[in-house]
Amino acid sequence: MAADELIFDPGVLKDEALCEFQGYRAAERHGGVAILPWRAAWLEATAAGVAAVGSAPSREEGSFRQGLVHLQKSRAATWRDLGHAWQLIETGGRLLICGGNELGIRSAVKRLGQELGQEARVLANRRHARIVAFERTETSAPKPAPASQITLSLPQGTSQALHAEPGVFSAKRLDLGTELLLETLAEQPPPQRVLDLGCGIGPLALSALLRWPDARALLLDGDIRAVASGTRNAESLGVESRSRVEWWDAEEACPEDEFDLALVNPPFHGGKEVDLRPAQAMFTRLTEALSRGGRALIVANRTLPYERSLSAAGSMEILRAERGYKIIGFTRGRASSTPASGRPRGGRSRSRSS
Ligand SMILES: C[S@@+](CC[C@H](N)C(=O)[O-])C[C@H]1O[C@@H](n2cnc3c(N)ncnc32)[C@H](O)[C@@H]1O
Repeated sequence: MAADELIFDPGVLKDEALCEFQGYRAAERHGGVAILPWRAAWLEATAAGVAAVGSAPSREEGSFRQGLVHLQKSRAATWRDLGHAWQLIETGGRLLICGGNELGIRSAVKRLGQELGQEARVLANRRHARIVAFERTETSAPKPAPASQITLSLPQGTSQALHAEPGVFSAKRLDLGTELLLETLAEQPPPQRVLDLGCGIGPLALSALLRWPDARALLLDGDIRAVASGTRNAESLGVESRSRVEWWDAEEACPEDEFDLALVNPPFHGGKEVDLRPAQAMFTRLTEALSRGGRALIVANRTLPYERSLSAAGSMEILRAERGYKIIGFTRGRASSTPASGRPRGGRSRSRSS
């Protein structure tokens, strides 16, 4: 990213350890700690020898003369990082924020300047990106972004609020694809072991546990903020003894296998671009982790070509296609003779592909 090139412009960073949020190149060069909630980035930084953590350490674990926050798409998530960086920087130290114009660096700097009652010092400004510095003072601080509450409808006709950390998927409301997949759970035979790949704040597996009191679930996500939200939601729904929520990247092996039901709402974006690689990796893990004859329910935008990747490992049917989404039912072990077309005959009818 263009913004990342600016951090090594002369005079931008001091040659002293720093806390770096959402990136690790500066910490790699100057020492300190990188805070990387995405497991893939954490794995990469750790392999490069950087001291990296998923969540911000506490002040007791160390403080710094400089901190660097890379702007994220989610403003709430950026503000959460700014708040943590502020706590880790010593009074009189510097808080740096960098990002591209396309992510709204100018408005973010303006807002932060107002909250801190300071003018930002622009350290570098080129390639449609900038990096600015504020002084860590005692008098003010970035205003923390609160976590949000998402309403989850429960099988009994009641509803429950789910906790969502800033920056996680569907932090404002339950995804429409997730809702559609939840509606199809009622049509499934009761499973014993449920796998939720890319669990987010946990709506799929946690609903399954509420529906089937004898089931257990493993929930996996690459974003540690989703893992924290899912863990908290499992506790508030009273299913923590039947669930395990883990930080995991789709390129890693699934920590358990022999599941009889997998629920997946795969990611299909890398930044602004469509990126199907994490979804493809999830399908590989899914076929490894399901028992023979085990089922998966996968929700996707109707146009996404997931059937091709799945057809070699089992059979498929399109269970529903409505509201712009389709629900793919996949059964491991019996390969499809022809891939599912993605188009059932009519609203809620079913079409077998094999
Ligand atoms: C479309 S969301 C679905 C979330 C949740 N299952 C739901 O239905 O609300 C996809 C999830 O995959 C996670 N994810 C994205 N890339 C990943 C990767 N490479 N490894 C593991 N999880 C990933 C995201 O953090 C996100 O929570």
